[in-house]
Amino acid sequence: MNFDLTEEQKMIQQAAKDFAERELLPGIIERDEKAEFPKEQMKKLAELGFLGMMTDPKYGGGGMDTISYVLAMEEISKHDSACAVVMSVCNSLVNWGLETYGTEEQKLKYLVPLASGEKIGAFLLSEPEAGSDATSQRTTAEDKGDYYLLNGTKNWITNANCASTYLVIAQTNPEKKHKGINAFIVEKSWPGITLGPHEKKMGMRSSDTHSVMFNDVKVPKENRIGEDGFGFTFAMKTLDGGRIGIASQALGIASGAYERAIKYSKERKAFGTEIANHQAVAFKIADMAVKIENARNLCLKSAWLKDQHQPYGFASAMAKQYAADIAMEVTTEAVQIHGGYGYVSEYHVERLMREAKLTQIYEGTSEVQKIVISRTILK
Ligand code: CAA
Repeated sequence: MNFDLTEEQKMIQQAAKDFAERELLPGIIERDEKAEFPKEQMKKLAELGFLGMMTDPKYGGGGMDTISYVLAMEEISKHDSACAVVMSVCNSLVNWGLETYGTEEQKLKYLVPLASGEKIGAFLLSEPEAGSDATSQRTTAEDKGDYYLLNGTKNWITNANCASTYLVIAQTNPEKKHKGINAFIVEKSWPGITLGPHEKKMGMRSSDTHSVMFNDVKVPKENRIGEDGFGFTFAMKTLDGGRIGIASQALGIASGAYERAIKYSKERKAFGTEIANHQAVAFKIADMAVKIENARNLCLKSAWLKDQHQPYGFASAMAKQYAADIAMEVTTEAVQIHGGYGYVSEYHVERLMREAKLTQIYEGTSEVQKIVISRTILK
């Protein structure tokens, strides 16, 4: 077993770290306060190829492996999770879904501008009454011969406003339950699509989250992904990889808070010495380190399995559940180590703690991951 990173992987990690410190960290507190989408920062991130990292270069991507993606996601998420979630949705859900299951025509038309970072994508599965229970899709895609008619509402959609390409999951044959669900490529500019207001979230406030309403939207037949009824399997397979992205985001949030806690504990003095010299603090740091190392190993293992073309859904569910849960614990302890300073925005850890909470909720709650893990073990 070889745990060493290749030179190329180290270079990508360093490039992401430099970019995050230089371009994302300045202004992050203000963007979070104003819930302002990081438009300029995203443009630069896209130009550097971070939105199509793993896509084949023949479709405009970087052709990198999933390990490199995990490394980059961790570095970006240490400072700006609003950017990191755009990166995750584009790379793991939209681009991977199109590259793996799209037709050649679909890839040339939609994947190339997405993977090259010219356009942004969104993944529309969640609904007001279908979050964890994803088979209960109420959005309908009625088969009208040479097109589908799309009606319904999607909720909590990341990138809803900044994206131009949507991958939409909808029910075509309700009597067939999840086997009647389809996935479609939908252009946001098509008539009949409206957006709800920007959601006022507890954390990742500047990420672009809205509900999306479809009212008699005509979707050409050639924009269906895969065979009739493939949509639920498409969503589940896509989410298997998406969970590697969000697990890495949670890892980055945790390691960002941990690095800040170490720095603070070596500077801040109490009872005549730096607080790092008190076991109450030192042991917290040790606990954080163990949790982060475990989370990193789970992220890298699931990425490695994916790169080796081995099944990775079980491993990615474990990585997502564990990394999200420890991100909540680690960021909470980082706030505690900072005391009063941890509770104000200037020291960043309160923001990281708010962001950690979302990683336990989106792309499948921690409880959903436990369903996936336990079913795999017990089946
Ligand atoms: N790969 C392939 N097929 C899969 C699969 C997978 N990983 N998981 C399930 N399936 C198949 C099953 O084999 C089954 O098929 P058959 O009937 O042919 O056997 C079918 O799908 C239904 O599976 P289940 O019976 O397991 O379905 P369920 O209703 O019990 O639900 C669940 C399972 C894991 C809870 C699933 O509904 C789920 O993952 N829910 C969470 C959805 C989610 O993650 N939403 C996030 C939205 S995206 C997002 O957040 C992006 C963002 O903006 C950041």
